[in-house]
Amino acid sequence: MIRQIAGGISYIGVDDLALDLFEGQYVLPEGMAYNSYVIDSEKIAIMDTADADVADTWQANLKEVLHGRTPDYLVAHHMEPDHAALIAKTLEEYPSCTLVTGAVALKMLGQFFPGIDPKVLVVKEGDTLELGPGKTLRFFAAPLVHWPEVMVSFLEEDGILFSADAFGKFGALGKCGFWGDEDDDWACEARRYYFNICGKYGVQVQKLLEKAGGLDVKVIAPLHGPILRENLKYYLDLYNTWSSYGVETPGVFVAYASMHGGTRAAALKMVELLKALGCPKVSSADLSRDDMAEAVEDAFRYGKLIVAAPTYDGGLFTPVHNFIHLLQAKGWTRRRVGLIENGSWAPQSGRIMKDMFAQMKDVDVIDPIVTIRSVMKEADIPALEALASTINQ
Ligand SMILES: Cc1cc2nc3c(=O)[nH]c(=O)nc-3n(C[C@H](O)[C@H](O)[C@H](O)COP(=O)(O)O)c2cc1C
Ligand SMILES: [Fe+2]
Ligand SMILES: [Fe+2]
Repeated sequence: MIRQIAGGISYIGVDDLALDLFEGQYVLPEGMAYNSYVIDSEKIAIMDTADADVADTWQANLKEVLHGRTPDYLVAHHMEPDHAALIAKTLEEYPSCTLVTGAVALKMLGQFFPGIDPKVLVVKEGDTLELGPGKTLRFFAAPLVHWPEVMVSFLEEDGILFSADAFGKFGALGKCGFWGDEDDDWACEARRYYFNICGKYGVQVQKLLEKAGGLDVKVIAPLHGPILRENLKYYLDLYNTWSSYGVETPGVFVAYASMHGGTRAAALKMVELLKALGCPKVSSADLSRDDMAEAVEDAFRYGKLIVAAPTYDGGLFTPVHNFIHLLQAKGWTRRRVGLIENGSWAPQSGRIMKDMFAQMKDVDVIDPIVTIRSVMKEADIPALEALASTINQ
């Protein structure tokens, strides 16, 4: 797709509707967009490449925008292959083009492209690159958002922030909209993308937001998802909440898995009890069937979590184990959690879940754990009611 995003700035990114899983694990119900841009001034700069899967279309877009001219610069903000895969091919085709990137990225370049030896301009925090009148690019380091070499750049006169993966989302632009204001539900897939890919790096994202706060940003041009130009406060506020592990939506997320239905019935009873107590929002997920990345997202979105799990071979039922392990891996923090365990001869799942949550920072596990034996009985209801009322406080 080729679109003008401002005077002299073209979008040359590509939608991929065929890919099954992003980064080998995230489902893509609406495809994926690999954004890339060309700044056309006295000098011509390509802003990142695209994934190898969309090489032909990206190269055709680039050629169309270049009209036979040779690009002067290829700016690489991030070395992950979904944006950097076509660096070597592009520099082979245009040997006089200078690769503009950071020192950390340069170290990775040879790992991805053995033997590559291009013309390079190494940039660091605060450096500028003049592309022509009114086209000054200024570079900022964004380490660990979500790789160590990441940089962003700011086209000062146009106020365009090339934000790398920050402010990206799942979804092809042909499906969700080219501009953020055309996207009815930007937050849904942006949140799933953010927490699963950047969730661990809240501190680093906060640092990037601080830097962006000092700039007069009019447009955010990320490497995935729509280009954001209106109501930027909405997106910046969400990023601020997410990266500070704040509560976006007051309410409780009930996550469960079940082999024979006993644990599910207890979890769904908990949903009913919370609703009856007037809990502002109650969301639930079956961890065996629902998208795990969405469950991770919801655990961060809501202020409180309840996890219900059967005991399994002396341990914790594996779908629930996977979920809690993912929360650990993504730096889940600053939350309250209530636990429901189930077992037919020696329930263990509650203790194991408690131990896993105890390893996380600022996570408060509510006492006591509710124990169900095989199936929920009338006698179990008071304990469930007590947990519902404690977590709803
Ligand atoms: C493969 C398998 C392994 C199990 N391992 C244990 C166990 O080690 N200890 C225990 O108390 N119950 C164990 N159980 C029993 C279940 O935890 C128990 O029946 C529970 O009620 C199942 O909940 P559900 O109806 O939500 O699947 C096991 C059940 C299965 C099917
Ligand atoms: Fe990335
Ligand atoms: Fe990416």
